[in-house]
Amino acid sequence: MATIHFKGKSYVQNHHLTLKHHHLVPNPDASLTDKISLHDNLIIHGDNLLALKALLPTYAGKVKCIYIDPPYNTGNEGWIYNDNVNSPMMQEWLKANQPIDKEDLARHDKWLCMMMPRLKLLRELLRDDGVIFISIDDNEVHHLRMLMDEIFGESNWVGTIVWKNATDNNPTNVAVEHEYIFCFAKNKTQLPSEWKSPISDIKQKLIEVGDKLNKNCTDTDKLQQSYSQWFKENKAYLSPLDRYKYIDFGGVYTGSQSVHNPGREGYRYDVIHQETGKPCKQPLMGYRFPEATMKELLAQNKILFGQNENKIIELKVYAKEYEDKLSSLIMIDGRIGAYDVKKLFPQSKRRFDNPKPVQLIKQLLSFTVKDCDVVLDSFAGSGTMAHAVLALNQEDGGKRKFILIEMEGYAESLTAERVRRVIQGIPTAKDEALKNVLGGSFSFFELGDPVEMQAILEGDSLPVYEDLARYVFYTATGDEFDPAKVDRERNFIGENKDFEVYLLYQPDLNYLRSTSLDLDKAEKLGLPESNCKKRLVFAPMKYLDTETLERYRIEYCQLPFEIYKFKE
Ligand SMILES: C[S@@+](CC[C@H](N)C(=O)[O-])C[C@H]1O[C@@H](n2cnc3c(N)ncnc32)[C@H](O)[C@@H]1O
Repeated sequence: MATIHFKGKSYVQNHHLTLKHHHLVPNPDASLTDKISLHDNLIIHGDNLLALKALLPTYAGKVKCIYIDPPYNTGNEGWIYNDNVNSPMMQEWLKANQPIDKEDLARHDKWLCMMMPRLKLLRELLRDDGVIFISIDDNEVHHLRMLMDEIFGESNWVGTIVWKNATDNNPTNVAVEHEYIFCFAKNKTQLPSEWKSPISDIKQKLIEVGDKLNKNCTDTDKLQQSYSQWFKENKAYLSPLDRYKYIDFGGVYTGSQSVHNPGREGYRYDVIHQETGKPCKQPLMGYRFPEATMKELLAQNKILFGQNENKIIELKVYAKEYEDKLSSLIMIDGRIGAYDVKKLFPQSKRRFDNPKPVQLIKQLLSFTVKDCDVVLDSFAGSGTMAHAVLALNQEDGGKRKFILIEMEGYAESLTAERVRRVIQGIPTAKDEALKNVLGGSFSFFELGDPVEMQAILEGDSLPVYEDLARYVFYTATGDEFDPAKVDRERNFIGENKDFEVYLLYQPDLNYLRSTSLDLDKAEKLGLPESNCKKRLVFAPMKYLDTETLERYRIEYCQLPFEIYKFKE
């Protein structure tokens, strides 16, 4: 297989393994929950490299879908390579510690060095039937594809989506009007044979009813009457598509507000109301189509008028146009993302660059996550992912959970605040959808200190028993630690299908100096039955020979390296 080579690769290849495990420290003031927990929806403030590692004990192999939107490395985003990798060349890069611009000849190498360990950790967090989506543009698309092939395996490539997000009105040579979204599986053989939208059946029903009623009726009023009657009787079943209240000779349809220009000033012209003959009220920022396109839409009878000119016109969208497959081509105006955020922060002068439209993320998630699945976004920005998850949950009553990670200071004031507003609803919002209380909760965590190392050596802040237990249990078994299982009497900290795990430890230097795994301790465990699980025993020292260890089915594990140092 062709592999990608870049400066620094050999130093970052295993960086994710050598990173220290850090605490996640709850921040109750920034949370929106009665009970802070790592099993709640999560927002984590900190560098995602450390945060992802800190999530492993609780979430390794448990995340169904990851969406990330990393810096595209355009040369003007101001991202800085700052992973503390221990090699002279990397330290040299760190010394410069400048935002990466187009002049930086190592900018692609630095970007790949930043991405590689993160992608490796993300892969560990995915479930076997999980998928990852990654947004990217032409700056790094070719490098990212090779890196993904290497980390996830070529055979796990699921597809590449071209997201047509813009219209270039001043093209130079090739007008760039799209980005990409890669989709890779952790293990493609574990994916269902087809991704079907949960509402495909409802869409089909609407099309069939539309065709049937149209066959029997040529009068538009009667047609609508019959459909309204059917709609009333079936409303409960139609729930996710219950805005499709109308019918004409083209079939069942709904109105959409998508004539608005999101964000900035759009096109200005008059659209004359069919009955009153007066110009219709224009959207706040003007129309999003030029006048010629509007004329075509009018000619195709695709524009819906209100009772009079005071209502902004809407675009007619037929049920048959509803996208129920995850297509490799998605057409959603990219400016809608900024508009989604602006609506939630109408007073704010601060602009967040390039948030993704909620609709886009919802589309990806609607095919890949359901019920109680966990989704993760480790480059969370304005928190679009959480918004999409909460909206989907409300639509179908699901209990999907999100984990967001954002390193900037706005993790609280923007990321968490957006999620808070969406959960609680904004009673004064102009947009009906935002008045809506989506409900839910989240726990906010800060990245804390490393579990071991200096803290242990300094002796004045040795980790408490439970923290060290969590760390060694996970590092030994890869499974989640459950504090309720701890039996301090027996030094037992939990078990999985292969091992029982014991920890001889107290946050006390004298204890650490004087405690060892000896015959006394082995006898306390008792002689094992023939099929008993292996016993992993973490202790500062051991005084037992190999034969005795085998007899008691004990595997001695040294306490983390730093305790060794202390011993010396
Ligand atoms: C392009 S934005 C993501 C926008 C997001 N998809 C949205 O819709 O709002 C990338 C975000 O990743 C964050 N980021 C970049 N490097 C990071 C890191 N190492 N750890 C955590 N967050 C990071 C940036 O601060 C920025 O907010």
